[in-house]
Amino acid sequence: MAKIIINASRSVGTINPNIYGQFAEHLGRLIYGGIYVGENSEIPNVNGMRTDVVEALKKMRVPVLRWPGGCFADTYHWKDGIGPKESRATIVNTYWGGVTEDNSFGTHEFMELCRQLGCEAYISGNVGSGTVQEMSDWIEYCNMGGVSPMAQERRKNGHEEPFNVKYWGIGNEVWGCGGFMTATYYADECRRHATYMRDYSPDHKIEKIACGANAFDYNWTKTVIEQAGHMIDAISLHYYTLPTNDWQGSKGSATDFDTKLYYETLDHTLFMDELVENHGRVIRVAGKGKKIGLVVDEWGTWYDVEPGTNPCFLYQQNCMRDALVAAINLNIFNNHCDVVTMTNIAQMVNVLQAMILTEGDQMILTPTYHVFEMYKNHQGAQQLECYAQTKMTGVKTAQVPQLHASASRDAQGNILLTVANLDEKESCPVSCLLADAAFSSVTARVMAGAPHDHNTFDCPANVEPTALEVKVENGEICAVLPPCSVAAITIKA
Ligand code: AHR
Repeated sequence: MAKIIINASRSVGTINPNIYGQFAEHLGRLIYGGIYVGENSEIPNVNGMRTDVVEALKKMRVPVLRWPGGCFADTYHWKDGIGPKESRATIVNTYWGGVTEDNSFGTHEFMELCRQLGCEAYISGNVGSGTVQEMSDWIEYCNMGGVSPMAQERRKNGHEEPFNVKYWGIGNEVWGCGGFMTATYYADECRRHATYMRDYSPDHKIEKIACGANAFDYNWTKTVIEQAGHMIDAISLHYYTLPTNDWQGSKGSATDFDTKLYYETLDHTLFMDELVENHGRVIRVAGKGKKIGLVVDEWGTWYDVEPGTNPCFLYQQNCMRDALVAAINLNIFNNHCDVVTMTNIAQMVNVLQAMILTEGDQMILTPTYHVFEMYKNHQGAQQLECYAQTKMTGVKTAQVPQLHASASRDAQGNILLTVANLDEKESCPVSCLLADAAFSSVTARVMAGAPHDHNTFDCPANVEPTALEVKVENGEICAVLPPCSVAAITIKA
């Protein structure tokens, strides 16, 4: 029997709700069709946003949404996306398929989406092909409450009150699609942009997020923090999970994989633990004591696209393997909440490791959606030290722990334990010892299946959470976790 020990008197801090953030880029069928269908669509919508998608996302509780990219962000000129829709300039989405977009989804529409979701906005500014003035104007347009040229323009476009956008990204992947800059060159650009990114109200201060490293490029983090750390609030990190770890060749299928690739995928995703640990240490040392957050604003699985779909649209299926990837990463972020202040899974609808897939007026929830929903009460709770005594499992090339867990306590004293059983075939009897806390009752849910199991438009409820039987024996909480499963155990105060 495996054992989990939760130490209720030890914590590294509060789990920032923004750790459960999402990412929506102008890419494939994410914005257009997946979220925004326009006011005149036959698909039920509120102000152009699909009602089915918004309602599902609300149940998952989205805290923050990053937009408009991604690589797209460094081609985007925000002024093309405001004003009467019929007179907006078009844009060719050069990164993602060369499609022409009509800019009908712009700043006001994004803010309307955030309003409907009840979430914070995180805007990624254009450093690659934009100007400092453009970025500065965008912030003034969104956040200026008094009289100014940009505020007047916003009012003319129908929004009297400022949007008060809190989170602003200073470029995206500037070491790649955002301009192929060196770290030193970018640090200068970052300082220059940050100088003109103003606060327009003492009650709504903005947070400036510098463009951070690709995976294990620790030198990038060190250089940017040393040279621009005094002018920013956070720095980002991008790390994608590829089964093959091969960016040039085949990344592997989303649904057709063997045992070896299953475990190798999980092994690759577990690397996130080392990444946040190491980047956190670099930030601490290079930042000389200044509190600078780590924002993992792109993470998730990346496979070959679904056969027959546009290779530039990054549309992939999502199965139980993805649920485990989500569970592992969210556990890692919870356990590093002293460093990680926000994350944004890539991406929210119809792209990469999506929460939701759509086809015309139909919609399905993915296993990843269910993990976010099962984990949602971690948001804003106090992380608790949680240790899983567990065996290793896997194949020769990829040994992973059988159990992976995190725990937190909310304001009412209720404890949420989330635990994944990574073993493909073996169930795992587990007993959980709660040290330094009493409890009155326990309820649990589990989502389980074979690694390839997924939802389809014909069979939308193939994979979803169900009740899990738990017993209390000798003061310990006991359950049997099915193979390849994710469980959420609520321990009531
Ligand atoms: O999420 C898809 C792409 O991955 C983003 O546009 C880019 O930032 C990253 O390379």
